[in-house]
Amino acid sequence: MTTQPARAIQFGVFFQGVNFGTIWSSAQSGSQHDFESFRRIAQTAERGLFSAFFLGEGLRLREHLGRVHELDVAGRPDAQTQLAALAAVTERIGLVATQNATYNDPHDLARRLASLDLLSDGRAGWNVVTTDNAWTGANFRRGGWLDHADRYRRAAEFVTAAKRIWAAEPGERVEAPDDLIPFATTSTLPRSRQQRPVVFQAGDSDTGREFAAQHADVIFSAHGKLDDAIAFASDVRRRLPAYGRGADELKFFPGQEFILAETDAEAREKADWVTHAQVSPQTALAYLEQVWGRSLSEYDPDGPLPDVDPVQDEADGTRGSMFSGLRAKQTADQWRALAAEKGLSIREFVIAQTTRRSIVGGYGSVADLLVRYVESGAVDGFNVSPYLVPTGLDDIVDGLIPELQERGVYPTEYAGTTLRENLGLPAVREPEAVRA
Ligand SMILES: Cc1cc2nc3c(=O)[nH]c(=O)nc-3n(C[C@H](O)[C@H](O)[C@H](O)COP(=O)(O)O)c2cc1C
Repeated sequence: MTTQPARAIQFGVFFQGVNFGTIWSSAQSGSQHDFESFRRIAQTAERGLFSAFFLGEGLRLREHLGRVHELDVAGRPDAQTQLAALAAVTERIGLVATQNATYNDPHDLARRLASLDLLSDGRAGWNVVTTDNAWTGANFRRGGWLDHADRYRRAAEFVTAAKRIWAAEPGERVEAPDDLIPFATTSTLPRSRQQRPVVFQAGDSDTGREFAAQHADVIFSAHGKLDDAIAFASDVRRRLPAYGRGADELKFFPGQEFILAETDAEAREKADWVTHAQVSPQTALAYLEQVWGRSLSEYDPDGPLPDVDPVQDEADGTRGSMFSGLRAKQTADQWRALAAEKGLSIREFVIAQTTRRSIVGGYGSVADLLVRYVESGAVDGFNVSPYLVPTGLDDIVDGLIPELQERGVYPTEYAGTTLRENLGLPAVREPEAVRA
């Protein structure tokens, strides 16, 4: 028996790899290195029946105009090592590691993920990314960097190979599905109780969406606004039949930040504090410097956007920046026009740019909004990025979840013990290798 509603929202918690969204400067914050931060947040999430604790991957510290970017979260411990430690202090929550398919090898990564799956008794997940910059690639002994299409070709073969390894009996020989990543290996581990780790995917290009439709169990997307989430889900779902897959085989978990309080007015006040703590005057300038490619320290963060033009053609002022490839002058012109039109200072402009995805409101009104998400069928869960660590989930667990449960759109207990069961995914079809 399960009390899980037919249609419900779920939560995962996304502990980011590299970002400025987490307010480490607050007295309430822990450390991004200490196990205690991770233990506390994973156990709070489990108290709130979250389906997954999810770690992003940042394999190289960002560099800003030639120096380590100290405004970012820096140097979080390796995901799989951390999740193995968390498996020992949690019982039900899924443990999802973001791991790239570009610099790893299938037989090695498949064995490590299968190990986490066994040690956590069926709670492991793998978020497949392709990691999109040469600057990260240079940190690996291979040095090389594949272009976008080749990274996805490699990722497809990689995931197919991993699934074959997981499907094989211990001692059974497994060969590469294609010849992009040549290998022959012998499976070493039995299956876990959820058969194999759940496969997540994060990547938004057309190729990334196609890849997800073919290979993933869950998509971690950046499409958290309701109309956007509906358009995204329908785009990806229409790709499923080509791979013989049904809509119940792929779940949608957009990333989301929630700023909550007892009332809407209090939540708006809190949002003002959160955004100003996230976007300090230095962060605001550093944000623009990614596009301008030069120091803007002589500009007043409370004044208008710089009148000087970028010194680069393409945005690359911060290594590992999400803007890389953007036309710098064109972007600067657009931003200046937008800020001037709305009368925004540098800091206000950056705040407006970076907080578009937050859901802000009182517990009751946010619960009502989430009911609309549930009714749309476009979102199975939210991957929450807490702005405070480790206390950032407390208001969701203690304030929002009871409201959702009252409205019948949130589980009142874990549906099962494995991640696959708790996500409501069907059993893995056999044999997986045939579907490659
Ligand atoms: C929501 C989301 C989260 C991501 N998280 C990570 C991450 O933690 N580490 C990483 O290297 N890449 C991450 N990526 C980027 C992936 O490397 C992705 O493969 C890259 O954007 C290229 O794919 P695309 O062109 O299909 O978007 C993320 C992408 C999205 C959309």
